[in-house]
Amino acid sequence: LYAPSRINSRGWDLANRADLNEFLESRSAFADAQWHAAPLIAGAPGAASSEREVFDPANPDSQIGTVRDATAEQASAAIAAARPWNVPVTDRAATLNRAADLLEENHGEIFALLAREAGKCAPDAIAELREAVDFLRYYAAEAVSNPALAPRGIITCISPWNFPLAIFTGQIAAALACGNGVLAKPADQTPLIAYLATKLLHQAGVPAHALQLLPGSGRVVGTALTGDDGIAGTCFTGSTATAQVINRNMAEKSSPGAMLIAETGGINAMIVDSTALPEQAVRDIVASAFQSAGQRCSALRMLYVQRDIAEPLNEMLFGAMDALSLGDPWWLANDVGPVIDRQAREKIVAHIETAKREGRLLKQLGTPDTGWFVGPAALSVGGIDDIAEEIFGPVLHVATFEAGEIDTLIERINARGYGLTFGLQTRIDSRVEHVTARMHAGNMYVNRNQIGAVVGAQPFGGEGLSGTGPKAGGPRYLPRFAEAPGPQLEL
Ligand code: NAD
Ligand code: ALA
Repeated sequence: LYAPSRINSRGWDLANRADLNEFLESRSAFADAQWHAAPLIAGAPGAASSEREVFDPANPDSQIGTVRDATAEQASAAIAAARPWNVPVTDRAATLNRAADLLEENHGEIFALLAREAGKCAPDAIAELREAVDFLRYYAAEAVSNPALAPRGIITCISPWNFPLAIFTGQIAAALACGNGVLAKPADQTPLIAYLATKLLHQAGVPAHALQLLPGSGRVVGTALTGDDGIAGTCFTGSTATAQVINRNMAEKSSPGAMLIAETGGINAMIVDSTALPEQAVRDIVASAFQSAGQRCSALRMLYVQRDIAEPLNEMLFGAMDALSLGDPWWLANDVGPVIDRQAREKIVAHIETAKREGRLLKQLGTPDTGWFVGPAALSVGGIDDIAEEIFGPVLHVATFEAGEIDTLIERINARGYGLTFGLQTRIDSRVEHVTARMHAGNMYVNRNQIGAVVGAQPFGGEGLSGTGPKAGGPRYLPRFAEAPGPQLEL
């Protein structure tokens, strides 16, 4: 019952007529839907907040629902009501597999929400649903294979808006698979998807006391859920700056020593040498930098091109950018959707405007009149040291290097302190070995794009400022949610 016949979900192939029709029809039922989210607390509900409106980032005048954010009092009530999920591991695994099936069955509503609340274009929405389903089945199978894993207790799961379903579900699935109780705090921007996913997990059979939902602000709800002495650990995915705040908050607890997993941001580089296949490199650069409007932690930010090929490669790259269609993610014709909100847009646009004033804007696409869109842009920089912080949007920084400078690039990229993804485009085998042996990055990709790690096949996570590990979707992840088994007596 608990062992899935296939770990990775099949998904929907939009090039297949039957899948395409299914995708469109299932989603159309939710074209005008309004959603509502609220805290899901097992015990006394506590005083509720007033409703907050949620809007579509592609059409900011269009309301898609409301949320009641959790209050500090509700966070305390949820902590008091939280209990580990104390049933046999095979039962937990069967429930998580049922939840995976329910997510797949409810695909139409999920695709609609991913477009309307998170601005996800169709391929991204499909990939995101698949990843959530894969996490559930993979961790269920891993837990059954490791029955000695004992729960730590109550785990707080804090997730970002850019994978509002996949990361939200993946964190929860890992904690639950080991029998922990979970307090889940989704990103402020995406409570509606989190609410639907939590409802489906409950419908699958996860008890209310083992999974509670606390939508709300990081400062109020996140602080309460990470700083409480009753919390055995926090699983966080988000920015490096927030991870540092949470780390300090947890260190100040009167019972320090709680587990912290933090998966954070990166300033990810790709090196393209003069032997690279230009058409392939350009296709991979465009996908890595601009898919999901660049709102992936894994996205390419810093492109280094060997000077000998820089001019023709850049020309081809800018031509490929021209072919991107920017617009409402609801429509299949659009490749790039909006960024998440006004604040995100203002920050990215200010970064591009600075480059424009300094004469470093190489290329930018125009934007639709309404919505939080940013035209994909390429900016010229001297190198990675010129990028002060992760710019979380469709912005590619471009520099050239000379033959013989590869080791200097590796040093610079490593010295920047992040270590999430890295891409290399070359046809020299010895260079692949040389660079991969020296580059500090959690996930390295050779002659392909550097986004979209697949659960169970490509464990994903960074090092340095990019994360604590262990890698999500890999065999070392679950043990961090469990107490290490004590020494075994040999009788
Ligand atoms: P964020 O750090 O602003 O917020 C992430 C979560 O933390 C949200 O739920 C937020 O409400 C909460 N939070 C904020 N302040 C808090 C506090 N003081 N205490 C507790 N919780 C708090 O990040 P974001 O803007 O939602 O997401 C984008 C960031 O996430 C980018 O930096 C991206 O690189 C990173 N990210 C990393 C990965 C990865 O696997 N490494 C994956 C996706 C996103
Ligand atoms: N796991 C996501 C990716 O690889 C973040 O793009």
